[in-house]
Amino acid sequence: MKILILGGAGFLGANSARFFRERGHRVDVMDNLVRRGAEINLEEFKRLGIRFHHGDVRNREDFVALPRDLEFVVDCSAQTSATDGYANPTFDLTNNTVGLLNALEHARGIGAAFLFCSTNRVYGADRVNAFPVRETATRWEWDPRRARPCRGFDPLHGFSHEFDVDGAHHSIYGLSKICADLICQEWARAFAMPIVVNRFGLLSGPGQFGKCTQGWVAWWAIAAHFGLPLTYIGWKGKQVRDVLFVEDACRLFESEMRRIGQVAGRVFNAGGGRKNSLSLREATAIVSRIFGRKVRPAIEARPRTADFVVYHTDNRPVEKALGWMPRIGLEEGYALIADWIRREEPRLRALYL
Ligand SMILES: NC(=O)c1ccc[n+]([C@@H]2O[C@H](COP(=O)([O-])OP(=O)(O)OC[C@H]3O[C@@H](n4cnc5c(N)ncnc54)[C@H](O)[C@@H]3O)[C@@H](O)[C@H]2O)c1
Repeated sequence: MKILILGGAGFLGANSARFFRERGHRVDVMDNLVRRGAEINLEEFKRLGIRFHHGDVRNREDFVALPRDLEFVVDCSAQTSATDGYANPTFDLTNNTVGLLNALEHARGIGAAFLFCSTNRVYGADRVNAFPVRETATRWEWDPRRARPCRGFDPLHGFSHEFDVDGAHHSIYGLSKICADLICQEWARAFAMPIVVNRFGLLSGPGQFGKCTQGWVAWWAIAAHFGLPLTYIGWKGKQVRDVLFVEDACRLFESEMRRIGQVAGRVFNAGGGRKNSLSLREATAIVSRIFGRKVRPAIEARPRTADFVVYHTDNRPVEKALGWMPRIGLEEGYALIADWIRREEPRLRALYL
């Protein structure tokens, strides 16, 4: 296959580029290298024969130099922090929404299929947080007696793509992504384009240059390794997410490419699912064990704006459509991250210390 990955030097993009290249596909990457750490991947791209194009999805001119015989465009480019967006909201919209539109128009022009990386942030925090929860020693969880199933939500399975996206507090990042997500859905219908939208939950794995405002699963491990300070922000550190490890996300892309005729026009929620759900406190216990040091995060009482208290993904629709489900569990995923940190220690030291 001939594949272009936008934002392909970032965490998901670079892992996907490597994944497809190692399976013999031709891979081109375009990235503006705005994400710190992305530049580290370029050396390996050269070695693997992944062609890198320095460009910005906001500039339509930057697409001109790209090959035109592509079969798939995978859009992984974005300003990805849900908290950074408040400092410069226009940036999120030009980068994540207008940038997507440029990418989509480019794909339409050359007749390529399009996979878009959307997010669970398209769902409003007030709606997600409206389901009653109960507190355990390490996490919040939906209260099975009071949290009632409704369209797109089942307390046993989590949230599916059918959950309402309207009239809620999305965060600026979430807003930029729901606009992009809807543009993809509309383009699929209006122009009969083969487009798939994946609304990912939390992604993590080796190669994620996590920071306190984005990519917290890897950030927790990096901070534990280097002894950097950590903070629980809101909900006593018991807020819960489901973690999808990156190789499983790459396998999902591959499966969608293989069956594009079958899944064109679909929107999927894809995540680690209930089995891979994790609170910050539970992550602290895991990284303390892995790195052999007692990690003691500080506590800030006030939650972040538009943050979720409990979210995990209902993977049943994507499983039914593609037979895909995550394979990598929390322990294995964290072990892979730890191996990467130890292997890349000098480079990470230069970035983080
Ligand atoms: N990481 C997660 O937990 C998560 C969860 C849900 C959805 N997503 C989505 O998945 C995609 C990939 O996320 P990631 O974790 O790899 O993020 P990342 O920040 O590691 O990678 C994004 C890449 O896009 C590049 N980029 C940003 N703006 C650009 C622009 N204008 N032009 C060209 N390149 C640009 C960055 O330099 C970076 O390399 C994003 O669309 C994100 O919204 C991520």
